[in-house]
Amino acid sequence: MNEYQTITSADAVARTGAIKLYDADGFEGMRRAGRIAAEVLDALTPHVVPGAVTEELDDRVFALMRERGALPATLGYRGYTKSSCISVNHIVCHGIPSAKTLRDGDIANIDVTVIVDGWHGDTSRMFCIGDVPIKARKLVDVTYEAMMRGIAEVRPGARLGDVSHAIQHFAESFRYSVVRDFCGHGLGRLFHDAPEVVHAGRRGTGPELRPGMFFTIEPMINIGRADVKVLEDGWTAVTRDRSLSAQFEHSVGVTEDGVEIFTLSPAGLDKPC
Ligand code: MF3
Ligand code: CO
Ligand code: CO
Repeated sequence: MNEYQTITSADAVARTGAIKLYDADGFEGMRRAGRIAAEVLDALTPHVVPGAVTEELDDRVFALMRERGALPATLGYRGYTKSSCISVNHIVCHGIPSAKTLRDGDIANIDVTVIVDGWHGDTSRMFCIGDVPIKARKLVDVTYEAMMRGIAEVRPGARLGDVSHAIQHFAESFRYSVVRDFCGHGLGRLFHDAPEVVHAGRRGTGPELRPGMFFTIEPMINIGRADVKVLEDGWTAVTRDRSLSAQFEHSVGVTEDGVEIFTLSPAGLDKPC
């Protein structure tokens, strides 16, 4: 059984293991954080071009957050030292910005998490660098659509398994595979909280969705097999078969009658590719 816990501001940072149900103030906080996270990616977009150095993009992410009164949640998180994750081609997630440059034909996920007045906004998008082969472009399209189909399942009374199933069913209909090693997560005053949001599963299973739940949906989809390994640096996750991988992420809240996406792009750049 899942435990649920109605949250007022004071107990929102406790690691209780229960699924937290936030009030109207929580929605207000998440709206502000989510919007800023999305604005940071919007403002970054013109710079995500062939020749861009990923470390320089990360510096820009830091500056864009600071300009908006936000802090990067990833900075110092479990020893991580950057303001974003930039995951190129066969990197599944947690790519560390470095001296490497983006090259024509690459696909790259850029994942940012802001903290604004204690609230977390977590979002990522795929970027196509220059001229990208149709095979890669199609993976990106399907991954975006998979995330949106997952989000469309979110309403009170639905189960998290309905979200998982929608994503898996859609991705696998293209003979792609869904990564099992990383999940979406509850968030709010905490960056990573209950529940775990798996991206493959069965309809009618998992925790019931209730108004006031906040979590991310962030499927990672591979052209090849689902298997992942983490490199020596302790972060970079790659596909074992070196096949291309794509990911999108939104932070959402369960409303009285459906879902609110906190991290929609004010510039309409939700899918810049
Ligand atoms: N933003 C990632 C997520 O979607 C987490 C990154 S943690 C880091 O949950 F330390 F790798 F940055
Ligand atoms: Co996340
Ligand atoms: Co993220």
